[in-house]
Formats: sequence, C-alpha cells, structure tokens
Amino acid sequence: RILILDFGSQVTQLIARRLREAGVYCEIWPYTASSERIREFAPKGIILSGGPASVTEGESPRAPQEVFASGLPILGICYGQQTLATQLGGRVEGGHPAEFGRAFIDVTGECAITQGLWAKGAREQVWMSHGDRITELPPGFRVVASSEGAPFALIADDKRHYYGTMFHPEVVHTPHGGALLQNFTKLVCGCSGDWTMGAFRQEEIARIRAKVGKGRVICGLSGGVDSSVAAVLIHEAIGDQLTCIYVDHGLMRAGESEQVVRTFRDRFNIQLVHRDASELFLGQLSGVTDPEQKRKIIGRLFIEVFEEEQAKLGGADFLAQGTLYPDVIESVSATGGPSVTIKSHHNVGGLPAHMRMQLVEPLRELFKDEVRALGRELGIPEEIVGRHPFPGPGLAIRIPGEVTREKADLLRKVDSIYLEEIRAAGLYDAIWQAFAVLLPVRTVGVMGDGRTYDQACALRAVTSTDGMTADVYPFDMGFLARVANRIVNEVRGINRVTYDITSKPPGTIEWE
Ligand code: XMP
Repeated sequence: RILILDFGSQVTQLIARRLREAGVYCEIWPYTASSERIREFAPKGIILSGGPASVTEGESPRAPQEVFASGLPILGICYGQQTLATQLGGRVEGGHPAEFGRAFIDVTGECAITQGLWAKGAREQVWMSHGDRITELPPGFRVVASSEGAPFALIADDKRHYYGTMFHPEVVHTPHGGALLQNFTKLVCGCSGDWTMGAFRQEEIARIRAKVGKGRVICGLSGGVDSSVAAVLIHEAIGDQLTCIYVDHGLMRAGESEQVVRTFRDRFNIQLVHRDASELFLGQLSGVTDPEQKRKIIGRLFIEVFEEEQAKLGGADFLAQGTLYPDVIESVSATGGPSVTIKSHHNVGGLPAHMRMQLVEPLRELFKDEVRALGRELGIPEEIVGRHPFPGPGLAIRIPGEVTREKADLLRKVDSIYLEEIRAAGLYDAIWQAFAVLLPVRTVGVMGDGRTYDQACALRAVTSTDGMTADVYPFDMGFLARVANRIVNEVRGINRVTYDITSKPPGTIEWE
C-alpha cells in the first residue's frame, strides 16, 4: 500500500485513481498526519502531492520530517517535489516565469521510474502547473529530465529511492504519467498490483460499519447509478439499519419506478419507501413555464417530501449520499468561483444537507467509471449500472413550456421507442446520453388521406466524458429515419421528429 500525503492540489485524487488502475491500494491523508499513524499504516512508499502554496513562504506546509528518516521510497509531485527538495537541503525560488499546461521536457538521464518508458535523449510531453522552481538540488540528487521553464523537471536519488517531478504525472495530459507512477509503486516500492474493486468493497464495508455502529441510515434513492451503488454497498454493510426513500415525482421514464422498486426491494431486500408524489409535483408545476422556476419547485418539493417520509420513519442518525469525487470538486469550485448559474441543478444526493445528519458517502473518492465497476462487483444489473445520466428534475426539463401528465405520458412513449432502437442497434454504450424532448409547437402533417395538426418532438444524443462539454452523436440517416418513422406511426399526437445537432457549448445537453 501507498500513502499519499495531500498538500491540497486539485488533482490529488487523480494520483489515487492512477494507482487504483494499476491495482495498488492507497489512501490519501492530509500532510499533517502524525508520524505515529504513518508508521502504523506501514506504507511501502509515500507520494507527496501538489498544492497551491509556495515553499518560499515561511509558513508553508511541510511533510513530517520523520518520513525522510523512515527509509521509505518517496515521490514528490510539483509542490511535493519542492518541499522534498527544501526539506532535504536544496533550494527553491519563486519569481520565475510560471508554466501552466502542456510542456515538453528533454530526457537527459535514466532512473527507476522512467525505466522502459523514457529513453535518454527523448523529448516527452508533460503537464505543468507551477510558479516556483528548484534552483539548487539537495545532496544525492541528479537531474533526469528538464524543460526550459523547469531545469529540474524530474530529479532522482536512486540510492535513497527519492524522486521528484515538477510536472503532474497523474493527469492524462502527461501521456506516460500513469506508467511512471506504476514504475514508482511496483519497481521502486515493490507493490504487487493485485488490489481490486472487490477489495475496495470489503474495505469500504468495514469502514461503514465502524462509522455507523448501531445507528440508523437513510438514503435518497433516485434509480441512478450513484445512489444505487451507494445503497447496495451500505446495505451489504449494515443490512436493515438502512432505509431508502424513493421520491417518485411522476416525471421518470417509462417503467423506471417499477424497476427501482423491483430491483432494490425484491432483489436486494433493501427496505424501501416508494412515495408516489406525482399528484403533488404535477399540481405545483401546473401553469409554470419558466425553466428555473420548474427546477426550483421540484427541488423544494423533493426536500419536503423526503423530510416528511424520514420523519414518518422516526428520523435517522446518518444520511447516505452517492457523492462522487467530481461532485466534491465541483461543489468546492461552486462555492468559491466566480461562475454564473446556468441552471440550478437538482440532485438527490445534494438535497437535504440542512438536515444536519452525519453523512455517509462511500463513493466520495471514486470516479463514475469506478462506481460502475463497483456496481458490477456488487451484482447490480447492467441496466442500472450502465445507465445514461438522468437529471434530477426528470422529464420536466424535457418538456419546454407547461408540464402536464398528458405531455409526460406522450414524451415517455417517444423516449422509450428511441432508446429501444438505440439499444437494438448496439449504440447505447457509445452514447453518453440520449433522450427525446417534447416541443411546444404543433405542425401540419399528412397521414393516409387526412391532414394532421399535432406536436413535434426532438431527439438528442451526445457523446461526452463528463457532461461539461458534449458533441452530437453522428447517427446515420437510415437509423434516424427508422426511429422517426416508428415514433410518428406509434405515438398518436406526434407527427414530426427533428434531430438536435447542437454541441455543448454553445447548447446545453438538456433543453432547459
Ligand atoms: P446540461 O443540460 O447542463 O447538463 O448540459 C449536463 C449534465 O447534467 C445533467 N443535469 C442534471 N443532473 N440534476 C442532475 O442531477 C439536474 O438538475 C440536472 N440538470 C442537468 C444532464 O442530464 C447532463 O447529463
């Protein structure tokens, strides 16, 4: 196992992710961890993360000095490299031109972590993000690679097994970065690399049990991947101490509520409260056309209903949430950043924060694809684990204008034909998200010998890696024509189908 000491970099979790990918178990601790705890943890090596501070300022963070006396291999990344250099007797100075983003380094030597990856004389791409730089190496070190902005881009002391990189090997913009980290953990630290998601499951179960004790936990279940995986994992840990609440706003896709109930109650034996609140939601949405207004109403009602149900259960000690690592980062930047609100996102996970229960968030360190892998490990059906993202406000934001039960029913039919065809064509997993939108326009058509004057719908399908940007999925015309034909023939009330070819930006994925 490897210990990552965190100095507050935005990308520290990526180090953990790269190690997990290589089958190496690791934990991230704040850099203030005591030497005693570190000794107990007994890591095979230590990684010092990057961070926003500057070692040239007096009070800046330092690694516990004892880690250098431990004889363990150490890799310092960015700030970690600078504090390593400073603490071992080198010099770091500010005031040099900062380097941010892609940079190229010249490999001038060899060391254990570049073995088999970077040959002497090669020029390699890396990702930099720093203002300070080392100006004098600590004793025992030599330079392995350098760039114009960072003469000490990669330094090594093979004898003591100390390494330092000015660049970030953990980000994908450093193409061999993952392999460099793997060399460190395997060749230098001697980790075997046989850790798996199955091991994560067991460790997390132990952690949940230790935290919850005999307490009661409630979990808002949405049927989406994150809350589903969190619920099943927690249930495996504490059984009937967990109750899930599924607030059904009546704006789910066809068959979805039944599937949630069937899967969690019948298959996993989880205590599940299914509250059909569709009357309430649709009633309050009646006459409302403004997208933000719709989102706010749904968000507010969701909290109200959730609280009502949890009060009926007699309260709980813990609230479980399927928060993922990207949510953690996003909420950090959302509170401090100057960004404008494009949409007020409603998220089952983020809702009842003011309820002041302790949180249980077993997925906090994971990324979406890791959560999916964990879900498969837990035996959650593929149709849930591999499901496209679905927004908290559901179909309400796919019905521009006023939302009614009739419109939602119509949209559900269109949507399920579209998704059925996508699945049948084997395209579901190649698409990030696909859905239909019911348009608030009526158009003229002809069917048989008669004139129709019915509603139009739009189909949308995008590829994306994180939902922040998106490209249109390039269906072939034959596929689109087949779907359009089925929709117009099978759904009474729809006589025109369009395909939305807007990327994000400038469009958003959802229409509202
Ligand atoms: P946009 O429309 O902003 O969507 O490009 C980006 C991603 O977020 C989903 N989305 C939401 N998810 N609550 C959610 O949990 C929301 O209120 C919400 N609004 C949008 C959207 O489906 C896409 O995946």
